[in-house]
Amino acid sequence: MSLDKVLLVAGARPNFMKVAPIIDCLDEGGIKAVLVHTGQHYDPLMSDVIFADLGLRTPDHHLGIGSGSHAVQTARIMEAFEPVLLAEQPDVVIVVGDVNSTMACALVAAKMGVKVAHVEAGLRSRDWSMPEELNRVVTDRVSDFLFAPSADAVDNLRQEGYPADRIHLVGNVMVDTLLKHVEAAKRRPTLANLGLEPGAYGLVTLHRPANVDDRDRLASLLGALGQVAEQIPLLYPVHPRARTAVEAIGLHPKIRLIEPQGYLDFLALEAGARLVLTDSGGIQEETTVLGVPCLTLRETTERPITVTEGTNRLVGFDPAVITQGARDLPSDHLRPKSPPLWDGTAAVRIVLILAGATLSDEGVQ
Ligand code: UD1
Repeated sequence: MSLDKVLLVAGARPNFMKVAPIIDCLDEGGIKAVLVHTGQHYDPLMSDVIFADLGLRTPDHHLGIGSGSHAVQTARIMEAFEPVLLAEQPDVVIVVGDVNSTMACALVAAKMGVKVAHVEAGLRSRDWSMPEELNRVVTDRVSDFLFAPSADAVDNLRQEGYPADRIHLVGNVMVDTLLKHVEAAKRRPTLANLGLEPGAYGLVTLHRPANVDDRDRLASLLGALGQVAEQIPLLYPVHPRARTAVEAIGLHPKIRLIEPQGYLDFLALEAGARLVLTDSGGIQEETTVLGVPCLTLRETTERPITVTEGTNRLVGFDPAVITQGARDLPSDHLRPKSPPLWDGTAAVRIVLILAGATLSDEGVQ
């Protein structure tokens, strides 16, 4: 394998900040990077604004897939991606994270005999009801390069029997992006524009199907958030999939619903928050690096390092546990935490490993 051309896939909001630093490194190394946007996320606030904030180039290919059931969305992505891959003939396809676009494109590439690199390999929640868990496991299984963000992810891959030479502990590319942008984000007038004081509000994100598609679960969680809002006002930038359901149930007056935020504004809001309540994956990591207390409204996490070494606490769905969690916060911000290799240079390691593999003719099994 030579490394002249790399194709990167991004489809949904949490993918964009993961491909950005890898593209920068490829550009610096004079290696051609082809960016494919599947169009899984298509609202301007979920895609274009984030692209602009990150300085990401216009995608070379936009597949325009949009929404659909899991099967429909996955199938459409596969169908549209195959001719692009045939035409581009890259040396390797890089997929990131755990969304439907990740798995769909990894499968297409593997079936065509194109090398696949999975960035964020080895994360496991062991909750098979999460679509992302299926995507993680299938993607890892068909990948030639398993780029793990943390030691627990490496352990998972070893336990599942992957050969050691396929597993590479590289750190966290999302942290590369965060460290690059955090100071500029903090200088933005985001908080002032929303009339917020640093440390005087909580930030909420809630969009996972298990939480927002089940009316009783959502009503119970919003009730718990209402109790937290009695202590500290909450700001909730709401994902399009959750808005209708949330509005139908109604919110405590001290919970303010706003549109999805751009990358930089959201980072500013996270950095300034007294606490974050979320069911997201990436936000558990970002709050750890920012040193902001995070309560995760889930019973499992695929990112346990954010609990053992970070600022994250799993509080599940029980309103009493959630409200107690919000009362038990440390009196001041926690210190920023940096799990090993979450240092801003994960993308460099990835590109060096891919380039190094080109030196050996036998490649990766
Ligand atoms: C996806 C990822 C999830 C990630 C989340 C981040 C999968 C299986 N899940 O979930 O891991 O945390 O993105 O946002 O890939 N919609 C819009 N506009 C958009 C995108 C979505 O209105 O730009 C609405 C549509 O009604 C759509 C629904 O949101 O049906 C769900 O979108 P989809 O991309 O299927 O999954 P997410 O829930 O966003």
